[in-house]
Amino acid sequence: MSLRGRDLISIRDLSREEILEILIAARRWIPVAEGRRASEALQGRLLALAFFEPSTRTRLSFETAMQRLGGRVITIADPTSSSVAKGESLADTVRMLSSYGDALVIRHPNEGASRLAARVSDKPVINAGDGAGQHPTQTLLDLATIDEHFGTLSGLRVILMGDLRYGRTVHSLARALCLFGSELVLHSPPSLRMPDEVVRELGEAGVRVREEPDLRRALKDADVLYVTRIQKERFGDLAEYARISGSYRFDPALLSEVKERFIVMHPLPRVAEIPPEVDSSPHAAYFRQAFLAVPVRMALLSLILGGRLSKKGGRSL
Ligand code: NCD
Repeated sequence: MSLRGRDLISIRDLSREEILEILIAARRWIPVAEGRRASEALQGRLLALAFFEPSTRTRLSFETAMQRLGGRVITIADPTSSSVAKGESLADTVRMLSSYGDALVIRHPNEGASRLAARVSDKPVINAGDGAGQHPTQTLLDLATIDEHFGTLSGLRVILMGDLRYGRTVHSLARALCLFGSELVLHSPPSLRMPDEVVRELGEAGVRVREEPDLRRALKDADVLYVTRIQKERFGDLAEYARISGSYRFDPALLSEVKERFIVMHPLPRVAEIPPEVDSSPHAAYFRQAFLAVPVRMALLSLILGGRLSKKGGRSL
């Protein structure tokens, strides 16, 4: 089935084949993402972005992707400077933006906000993070990073570490890895465990998943360590945040015990969970991961926006 005109709200909106199609297309976009080749693939297209939460990489890589493809963008990067500050509803903002642009990328603090946006928009909606819900486009670039490094997404042992309760990146990534037969090891503070609902889904999909409180032991046969930031903005009690975040960081000494091809990933921003000493290690993959955001989002945008414009059978350019 074609991705043209489709919404992307949950990673489960994509089949295994569609994910692979996006990753293959992303590889071909790398020279354009690097500025070594030019493209006008999305010339005449306009992407609207509405970010109701802070963002650096997600917003700028979507904007870069669109512009590298010859398209243009309009962006609400700071809701306090838009009519949202006057009390405009999300539905009204979305309706308006989707009448201006050819597709809408939205990030919002409420879980389910992107789903609501997709219901009121007649143009494709891409979820760029909905509260503690999901972040499917981050997952696509996470998978691209793993695939580029290992040449496969199957048969790997992946540790998800950090804030598994509120971290939307790991909620999407865990669900995607299910499709490829990787094994998951969960390592988090007890109060920030992966939600039962996600663990249940993984179990039903037949994924091998276990919790491991001892990181050193988990690292022994691991291929990937995916570290996440403790999501400060989702804590009601900041004293609790301070207690957990202070004690939660990756010790670079552990790198002496890992497999040769092992990589450390992080969706970024990091706060203190990976010390800068790790950056120069051949195991550090997080900056490559951040770069791959551009070709992956180019692939996604060109597949969603190529040809037909509207979900409701719009015109072709
Ligand atoms: C993540 C997010 O916003 O969920 N950032 C990103 O998009 N790269 C991770 C985070 O904020 O911790």
